Amino acid sequence: MIDLTRNEQVLQKNIDRAKERNIILPTFAQMRDPEQIPGKIREKLKDVGLWDINPLNLFRITWHNEPKEKGGQFGKPNFLVLPKELTGVDAKIICMVGKWFPTGCHKVGASIGCLLPRLVTGQFDSTYHKAVWPSTGNYCRGGAFDSKLLSCYSIAILPAEMSKERFDWLSTVASETIATPGCESNVKEIFDKTWELRNTREDVMIFNQFEEMGNHLWHFNITGPAIEEAYNLIKTDKSNFAGACFTSGSAGTTAAGDYLKTVFPNAKCATGEALQCPTLLNNGFGGHRIEGIGDKHVPWIHNVKNCDMVIDIDDEDSQQLIRFFNEKAARDYLIKQRHVDPALVEKLDYLGISGIANILCCIKFAKYYELTENDVVATVLTDSAEMYASRIKELQDADGEYSEAVAECRFKQHILGMKTDFMKELTYIDRKTIHNLKYYTWVEQQGKKTEELNALWYDPEHTWKAVENQAGEIDALINEFNDRTGLLKSL
Ligand SMILES: Cc1ncc(COP(=O)(O)O)c(C=O)c1O
Repeated sequence: MIDLTRNEQVLQKNIDRAKERNIILPTFAQMRDPEQIPGKIREKLKDVGLWDINPLNLFRITWHNEPKEKGGQFGKPNFLVLPKELTGVDAKIICMVGKWFPTGCHKVGASIGCLLPRLVTGQFDSTYHKAVWPSTGNYCRGGAFDSKLLSCYSIAILPAEMSKERFDWLSTVASETIATPGCESNVKEIFDKTWELRNTREDVMIFNQFEEMGNHLWHFNITGPAIEEAYNLIKTDKSNFAGACFTSGSAGTTAAGDYLKTVFPNAKCATGEALQCPTLLNNGFGGHRIEGIGDKHVPWIHNVKNCDMVIDIDDEDSQQLIRFFNEKAARDYLIKQRHVDPALVEKLDYLGISGIANILCCIKFAKYYELTENDVVATVLTDSAEMYASRIKELQDADGEYSEAVAECRFKQHILGMKTDFMKELTYIDRKTIHNLKYYTWVEQQGKKTEELNALWYDPEHTWKAVENQAGEIDALINEFNDRTGLLKSL
């Protein structure tokens, strides 16, 4: 469970700081349903840009933002529905759009989910602590952004080989940025750096997304219900919610699947990873190019008992497609030859590399389970092409010009050519095998206890379910915090 022990003295300092800097905190209930945000805050947001460093943007940590650069209000959740013309499978694929979060990525939610409980209990001292955000990119961008909105010092940690866009942006928002050796899957190096900081600097507080239950809590309570809402908006009398596929980085998003299973008990949840780093599929390891996912370990917060299937995606498919979706010749091909709705084609830059991998997981899932046109599968587009302009340029430089004929080949190879290879439907023993891998990272390396590990498997009531039910209790603390600053009343 998330520790909600209060430190009254520090809490008062946080309240005073918030009062001085005009910071009102959003509740989980408001992030889930922005209709609950006070009208006066919504009014003020009419003058605020989506990425502005303005504490009011804490209220935009929701799937329901109006898709606008500035002044947006709230409406239905942002999602696309991908049809057969684009995917080659009969089932419809719901893709939740992360682009319309501040920072252009839903990871800003995972980071606020980790920070809020410690802020409103006074465990984190916003006037003293440096918030450390270990990540492969977007989580530390989100953490740095949230920290800045809350007037806290932030330290972003990410591998040196992550995209230039991530580093450029961090240099303007994070108080400090530390690049650790390696690429996407070098998470051990990130963990080593956090230990070094912990052991040498008293004023740091680590928010390790791979083990923080606040990450799980946020996706269970916010992303899961947003997907349910999207499904309810498109369903017909014949519809069947067949399942959800999420590639895993910290495995925070997989908690949305845990929520969906409570609403649709027959739904199946699949976890995706890169074929070049097949840790879940066969205890494999390796470097890969799907930024944000698959890190040679099993995150502490992955509820593996709920995982029905593992699906591996060749990173070459997602690389080729990030270019494909952003080339004019390919877009023309999709409209003219495949008859994809031009309004949808225009939005294909909502897909980042891991979002594309997620869609490919859904396609493989639909093929494996022989889904029909009545079935719906859901996933997320964690970030968008906006984060990968330099990667697209690298591919253009390497492979040369694109024509509609090339586009057709790419489409047939990298979308229609998806097969049911490199995937596994998990038995009880398979799941336990994945769970057992946690031992080596978390007990041997990171100081967890064997009893804690066993509790995740044998005692879901007092681990996963207990966390998932904590949103109400944390909201009560957030409401008390806001009452004590007095800012809401004086709006
Ligand atoms: C681009 C991108 N995709 C996917 C993920 C994986 O999401 P999660 O950490 O919730 O598993 C991340 C995580 O940082 C990411 O940055």
